[in-house]
Amino acid sequence: MQLFAQISDPHLSTLEGVHWRQLLSKRALGYLSWSRRRRFEHRPEVLEALRQDLQQFDLDQLLVTGDLTHVGLPMEFRQALAWLRTLGAPGEVLVIPGNHDASVAAPWEDTFSLWRDYMASDELAAGDNKLFPSLRVRGRIAFIGLSTACPKPPFMATGTVSAEQLQQLPGLLDAAREQGLFRVVHLHHSPLPGKEIWRKRLTNAPQVLQLIIDHGAELVLHGHGHRAHYDELATSQGMAPVIAVPSASAMGLHGGNAAAYNCYQVTTGGEGWQLQVRSRQYQPDRKTFAEKEVKTVCLVRRP
Ligand SMILES: [Fe+2]
Ligand SMILES: [Fe+2]
Repeated sequence: MQLFAQISDPHLSTLEGVHWRQLLSKRALGYLSWSRRRRFEHRPEVLEALRQDLQQFDLDQLLVTGDLTHVGLPMEFRQALAWLRTLGAPGEVLVIPGNHDASVAAPWEDTFSLWRDYMASDELAAGDNKLFPSLRVRGRIAFIGLSTACPKPPFMATGTVSAEQLQQLPGLLDAAREQGLFRVVHLHHSPLPGKEIWRKRLTNAPQVLQLIIDHGAELVLHGHGHRAHYDELATSQGMAPVIAVPSASAMGLHGGNAAAYNCYQVTTGGEGWQLQVRSRQYQPDRKTFAEKEVKTVCLVRRP
């Protein structure tokens, strides 16, 4: 039996004290959105309650599926690094970036380099900064991370998986299957075409999805929509759930989902795998997280 958890879209940074000179056009739009709305919706006290709630689980890995920041400023990357350290060591916490983290092009040294160890594969050599697709193996679980984050024009919150990642993904999926591993593909945007509105979509979702269908996976996890979702994908090797969690810091104002995260328990069974999904949601009145739903699915796989 193995246990891991997924949190997403913490949008944990504060833009208090930001000077207008730091804001390029897209960042200025993001700043406006933060000052008018997002700073009331995404709250540090919710993230702290989540961190405390996580203590009860002995996790093999904690996945953070993107959008740690609001507009991707270097100071936000520093805030996010401090927060990641409160969650665990780099070997225990695995990050993929979201569209907000790559809001505009920024120097690597001031931004993503700070999170490098939290995004790195097990085998990444020192000095190698080609991070994606990432691969970490914990026990019988392979975590395969895709980055969809790249700068886009103003008003666009789309993502794209690079051609290089698309080329490497089949090999990673095939090799993990040959080793009898439970394959978790995690990315920020939904790979299911039509799940998001046009300006928030994964631009090459059909290609990404087809690779997962052809080469198989046991579980696909994403965030970005700030809503909980459960879908089932028929792959060439059997059904794989596609699951999204809401933002980890959300108050649930304006009818949105309150913060939630998922804990996944994987067990081997006679015919494949058993996956138990425990969803825990923030209770604004009690200021703590509580169990919302437990779902168990059997993933039948041929040996
Ligand atoms: Fe987000
Ligand atoms: Fe996003």
